[in-house]
Amino acid sequence: MALDQQQWPNDLSAFWMPFTANRQFKKSPRMFVSADGMFYRTSDGRDVLDGSAGLWCCNAGHNRPKIVEAIQQQVAELDYAPAFQISHPKSFQLANQIIDIAPEGIDHVFFTNSGSESVDSALKIAIAYHRARGEGQRTRLVGRERGYHGVNFGGISVGGIVNNRRVFGSLLTGVDHLRHTHLPDRNAFSRGCPQHGAELAEDLERIAALHGGETIAAVIIEPVAGSTGVLVPPVGYLERIREICDKHGILLIFDEVITGFGRLGEPFAAQRFGVSPDMITCAKGLTSGVIPMGAVLSSAKIHDAFMTGPEYLIELFHGYTYSANPVACAAGIATLEIYREEGLFEKAKALAPYWEDALHSLRDHPGVIDIRNIGMVGAVELEPFEGAPTKRGFETFLNSYEAGLLTRVTGDVIALSPPLIAERSHIDQIIGIFGGVLRSA
Ligand SMILES: Cc1ncc(COP(=O)(O)O)c(C=O)c1O
Repeated sequence: MALDQQQWPNDLSAFWMPFTANRQFKKSPRMFVSADGMFYRTSDGRDVLDGSAGLWCCNAGHNRPKIVEAIQQQVAELDYAPAFQISHPKSFQLANQIIDIAPEGIDHVFFTNSGSESVDSALKIAIAYHRARGEGQRTRLVGRERGYHGVNFGGISVGGIVNNRRVFGSLLTGVDHLRHTHLPDRNAFSRGCPQHGAELAEDLERIAALHGGETIAAVIIEPVAGSTGVLVPPVGYLERIREICDKHGILLIFDEVITGFGRLGEPFAAQRFGVSPDMITCAKGLTSGVIPMGAVLSSAKIHDAFMTGPEYLIELFHGYTYSANPVACAAGIATLEIYREEGLFEKAKALAPYWEDALHSLRDHPGVIDIRNIGMVGAVELEPFEGAPTKRGFETFLNSYEAGLLTRVTGDVIALSPPLIAERSHIDQIIGIFGGVLRSA
């Protein structure tokens, strides 16, 4: 069905689009007008297969009646409740349901509205936690090169993607970065965790030696770096980071905004890798992307350190007007129910080997210089055009869209992460379309 002419906005200039080549877009707009299951429908009436779960978030697929109805009922019953000093039953229900699937030792949920807010909340909680227990000198934060932790000042300070940092001033002070773990010479075309690079975790020892480990509040890393182009951790790397954190009393925060809620075949990457962080930041899959919502998940050790002093006092001076918004909570509860009832995390785990083989079948296609994968995530890295880095990636993204496949482009890397409802036939379709795009470029 072609889009009714009436539905076209008559001027595209007012909306300043995020992370978008605005001028290019407004010359040839790409608009989705509806979605169902694994597919989007464009304004010119084409079906586009969702190869990226929207922006890594629509893990339950699109237009799921259970989520839609939960939202409709909630908004008609209780549209909003103040987030401070008052709450509503669904906030506690959702928090408990998250804890039920969270890694051992994670016992509390602090709600936010996005991944970026989750990250900045976790960094603040880390610093305040140390202060609450008499270690106020622990103010340093450690992130990683090529890390993506959203776009707020804390997140870009610990993040390591240069274009997200370079024009935004001096950022937070007292931040160091581990080196990234991308070693194409040694690890190209790895399946799952690459063999080489665990020694890069020793960077944390060097940073601790440089500043004194007792000055570092927290290390934040994505267990699998997503937005920089899917960097899977080398075998043993995360374990070693955990050991060094323990040795120096540093909190470990896993940013699971992408990896949370089944992307790797377990509820969280922490469970997939058997490494226990002190805090987890999440968002996206929490509501399958339908309503904005994020969360910081924390251990009892951290939470309990704040629960002192007179009971009439606020323990943590932090929160958002929309923390645990009732409509978002209803969406979250319905989403977690779908994950559970349909066994979507287990389904992702079972499908991962097929996904891996399918992705790696693209190895000999024109321009492909690396393929990386784990769980239901994958990336195909393309040789940049000489003198025009990112152009090839962007063109491949556009050509895929025209050919009926939504991908996520980051530099010259095309990332793929379909909704967890995907069947083998969808994977065949994704690889078929994408392979054709690569061959005809
Ligand atoms: C690891 C990670 N952290 C944080 C964020 C930021 O999330 P949001 O865009 O919801 O603020 C993202 C978004 O992709 C992410 O991948």
